[in-house]
Amino acid sequence: MSRQLHLNLFFHSRGHHEASWRHPQTSPYPLTDIRYYQDLAQRAEAAKFDSIFLADQLALGDDVAQAARTWLEPITVLASLAVSTSRIGLIATASTTYTEPFNLARQFASVDHISNGRAAWNIVTSWLATAARNFGGAGQVSHADRYARGEEFMTVVKALWDSWAPDAIADDRAGGLYAHGERIRPINHRGDFYQVAGPLNTPCCPQGRPVLVQAGSSDTGRRFAARHAEAVFTAHMAKETAQEFYTDLKQLAAAEGRKPEQVLILPGLSPMIAGTEAEAQCLLRETNDLADPEVGRKRLSGRFGGHDFSHLPLDKPLSPDDFPEPGTVQAARSRTEVIINLVRRDRLTLRQLLGYLAGARGHYVTAGTPEQIADLMEDWFKEGAADGFNVMPPLLPLQFEVFATEVVPLLQRRGLFRTEYEGTMLRDHYGLEQPASQFA
Ligand SMILES: Cc1cc2nc3c(=O)[nH]c(=O)nc-3n(C[C@H](O)[C@H](O)[C@H](O)COP(=O)(O)O)c2cc1C
Repeated sequence: MSRQLHLNLFFHSRGHHEASWRHPQTSPYPLTDIRYYQDLAQRAEAAKFDSIFLADQLALGDDVAQAARTWLEPITVLASLAVSTSRIGLIATASTTYTEPFNLARQFASVDHISNGRAAWNIVTSWLATAARNFGGAGQVSHADRYARGEEFMTVVKALWDSWAPDAIADDRAGGLYAHGERIRPINHRGDFYQVAGPLNTPCCPQGRPVLVQAGSSDTGRRFAARHAEAVFTAHMAKETAQEFYTDLKQLAAAEGRKPEQVLILPGLSPMIAGTEAEAQCLLRETNDLADPEVGRKRLSGRFGGHDFSHLPLDKPLSPDDFPEPGTVQAARSRTEVIINLVRRDRLTLRQLLGYLAGARGHYVTAGTPEQIADLMEDWFKEGAADGFNVMPPLLPLQFEVFATEVVPLLQRRGLFRTEYEGTMLRDHYGLEQPASQFA
């Protein structure tokens, strides 16, 4: 079969547009109602999507007065979605900086069991400065330290997932043997950050290990992804930067001794879709009008580690000098570069920049017909910019439904996307091999 697109549905608030929660046509469910998440996952499964994804931040934003988020703890949500769906992959975010590897390994192994092999972990180092204050820390953990800790975290969780041989459980009632003790081993890890004896107290999971997803884009983040990630989320505002990222990450993966096709690259795509391009643009303008620029200004400050943008007028063109040097930012460094490059290229005013970021926080935002969206996806897919997409509908579930009923059939007719699931596990959908267990 020819190479196929991979599609992930990213859940966020009542849509990825900052003002989606206020939009009269988005979901009526409270954002703490599990039926909202179940409904979205079931719609994505009906559209034969590979997976769904929940992001996570470990602190309440100071913009809560005007910002609605997906509030439930993601791993808990996955457990619920595991029993209300049967085929779709389930990805949750969890932090290597503010969790312990033993508990995290056990949680994802459990979701992999509950879902019969559909669990995936989006590995993040948590860039939000305010998160540090919720975990006993004095302040932000530096970018370099977060990745150093993350590296050791990965060594520990992989060893824990591999601490049981797949055939360790005998469950022999007549013979009185529950498990083959010699098929379960401690890991005895002693490192700079963690001391973990092991073994895990959860048996080997259906996928061997949960699928590993990552979204680092800085140099350190990319090298981390090249070593560990099987799918990579990334944000680009232009095809050219997506191509550069794609080529670089595949080369880095090869340099780590991995097969480049075993690392899927999924850029974010936030399409507003309507019958004509003019209608789609109009819908986007209407939604933009619901967004408050002062909320956007606060959010921009958060992205730049608390930098003060309060003195900047809304309607004067910005220059890169209005921003701190990305190398000095301890938060999500690569996204700050994306923003500064956009300012340099398009000479945007602050109002225009905030309007663009309101769409999907720096991911690719577009408005058009189903054909235009399918053309764009095919182009990026065939021109070395993407193996698939992290689909980020601006309004949920409305714009997902339009995507599912109008864009997916076009992709299927072009032979680019499945019409039926072939396997049962997320590794089957993504075409990923089971990692070799260290147990052997
Ligand atoms: C689609 C996507 C989703 C992300 N989700 C989260 C998240 O849920 N929590 C988080 O702390 N960071 C999240 N990030 C940020 C990344 O983990 C990473 O910190 C960021 O891209 C900056 O890269 P760097 O850490 O290499 O500088 C996400 C990034 C992308 C592109």
